[in-house]
Amino acid sequence: MTGVALDATAVYRPQQDSHLLIRAVRESVPVVGRRALDLCSGSGVVAMAVAGLGAASVTGFDICAHAVRYARTRASVAGARVDVRLGSWTQALECAPFDVVACNPPSLPTEPGHGDGAPPGAWGAPSTPWNGGPDGRVILDPLCRVAADMLTAGGTLLLVQSEFADIERSLRQLSDSGLDARVVLSDQVRFGTALAEQARWLERTGRLAVGRRQQTIAVIQADKPA
Ligand SMILES: C[S@@+](CC[C@H](N)C(=O)[O-])C[C@H]1O[C@@H](n2cnc3c(N)ncnc32)[C@H](O)[C@@H]1O
Repeated sequence: MTGVALDATAVYRPQQDSHLLIRAVRESVPVVGRRALDLCSGSGVVAMAVAGLGAASVTGFDICAHAVRYARTRASVAGARVDVRLGSWTQALECAPFDVVACNPPSLPTEPGHGDGAPPGAWGAPSTPWNGGPDGRVILDPLCRVAADMLTAGGTLLLVQSEFADIERSLRQLSDSGLDARVVLSDQVRFGTALAEQARWLERTGRLAVGRRQQTIAVIQADKPA
């Protein structure tokens, strides 16, 4: 982390998806005294909210050095006990299992070649925190396959994603891995700048009705049997 100047503009600003995920954690799972994980932690807004709900510990992972530095600074100023680590979400498998796992991954389908050319989800791609690859599933697919390994028996994953990244597919993958998965919250969101830039491409590829400029986002809850 040394030598990384803090650039807060490179950090994903908490939005409706962030707040819907926090609401789902608050309403759907017991948190007090439990071991929690925030994957793709960005500004740390979810991790800090989970800490505020009384988790015994909260660990966050993000590949963006700016985000990690920003989250650590915010947590320190707020006195929140969260441990934000620089690294891919996959590294959380090394310190699993957790009782509560929250995740707001990049899940916007993004035209190949868009942005700075860095592969989505790759180290050092701070300018594309929403880029989920051409189908939006660059993190969702592998995460849904191994989610059960991240959870204690009786543990819960809460995952927020865009409708454009195939919510049914996530539900199927999570169920196939032995978790009890369903949508617990959803919301309608007007297109922000990132999705607006992809709108024409989504229309051309038949995934968006011409002229439509809002999407559904959903929080999936997936429980591991006790
Ligand atoms: C949509 S933002 C969510 C940020 C925050 N959790 C929130 O809800 O506001 C997605 C975050 O995932 C991070 N990210 C992208 N690929 C990642 C990966 N492979 N492992 C961990 N974090 C990743 C990005 O840097 C970005 O901060």
